[in-house]
Amino acid sequence: NGLERVFSGIQPTGIPHLGNYLGAIQNWVRFQEEYSSALYSIVDLHSITVPREPKVLHQSILDTTAVLLACGIDPQKCIIFQQSKVPEHVELGWILGCLTNVPRLRSFSQWKVKSAIQKSEGSVGLFTYPVLQAADILLYKSTHVPVGEDQVQHLELAQDTARLFNKKYGVFFPVPQTILNTTKKIKSLRDPMAKMSKSDAQALATVDITDSPEEIVLKFRKAVTDFTSEVTYDPSGRPGVSNLVAIHAAVTGLSPEDIVRQSVGLDTARYKGVVAEAVIQKFAPVRSEFGRLQEDQSYLKKVLQAGAEKAKELAAPVCLEIKRMVGF
Ligand code: ADP
Ligand code: NA
Repeated sequence: NGLERVFSGIQPTGIPHLGNYLGAIQNWVRFQEEYSSALYSIVDLHSITVPREPKVLHQSILDTTAVLLACGIDPQKCIIFQQSKVPEHVELGWILGCLTNVPRLRSFSQWKVKSAIQKSEGSVGLFTYPVLQAADILLYKSTHVPVGEDQVQHLELAQDTARLFNKKYGVFFPVPQTILNTTKKIKSLRDPMAKMSKSDAQALATVDITDSPEEIVLKFRKAVTDFTSEVTYDPSGRPGVSNLVAIHAAVTGLSPEDIVRQSVGLDTARYKGVVAEAVIQKFAPVRSEFGRLQEDQSYLKKVLQAGAEKAKELAAPVCLEIKRMVGF
């Protein structure tokens, strides 16, 4: 059935958190086995659509790489690379931008939300973010793109742009399929109505994959619950404790119902300790591997260098052909 190629990206914005792992990274590890080809990009170009401190960004790129490798992303089974090292992303982004109309970009909720947060009302880069994202995907003629619900709109743009290009210049791109991640979003430990997010400035709200056991215990101990002491699973009625059950279920592979059954007799205070312990155990190997990799920055750079070369090998001829089709 031909080449099935997965493409996905992650922004280098600090250490990935529990939500990133459960909602994205653990699936990436599976997809590198299941698909004939997988590309995972550290999307540094996307990450400067909001202001970033150069030193922090640089370290984040290496940290994100280390986390991915520690979680089981295997450079022998996929191509892991830094987006900015393959300039064809930007070239194709320009060409696709010329096929995209402004009102469509204005309609995206990510633009509305993130540009409203910025005093500057948002950069051009933030505005055209979905165009670059379409270029990321199409540059490798990717067939499958795993995304969360919040990225579905952007994927639709990539699909429509592929169709538009094919109609205007001749059939060239496969229309990429969405692999929708349907697992429920992990919520902030401080505000169980909001998703756990790197952009959350509140202390103790996110559990990072590489947090120490002490930090994990503290964050769960401070997790917002309610005034009922039993452990039940009722996401709309009791979002706080249900988020803990969901996390516990996800890291143990049990169902929320099993978790509730085995937690009879525990009050939420003691239950928080149980969840913290399960999270600590789940990520102990990742944390120690991350520590080891962090000490070996030259290895991380080598992995990224090799990944960029492989990505470039795929991207260069595609980009050349596109430019020929456009008439350059
Ligand atoms: P953040 O919101 O923390 O900046 P990103 O937007 O960079 O995270 O998301 C990276 C990936 O992680 C996406 O696939 C997204 O769907 C997933 N993800 C992010 N936050 C969560 C969460 N709280 N629960 C589950 N998956 C999440
Ligand atoms: Na985000």
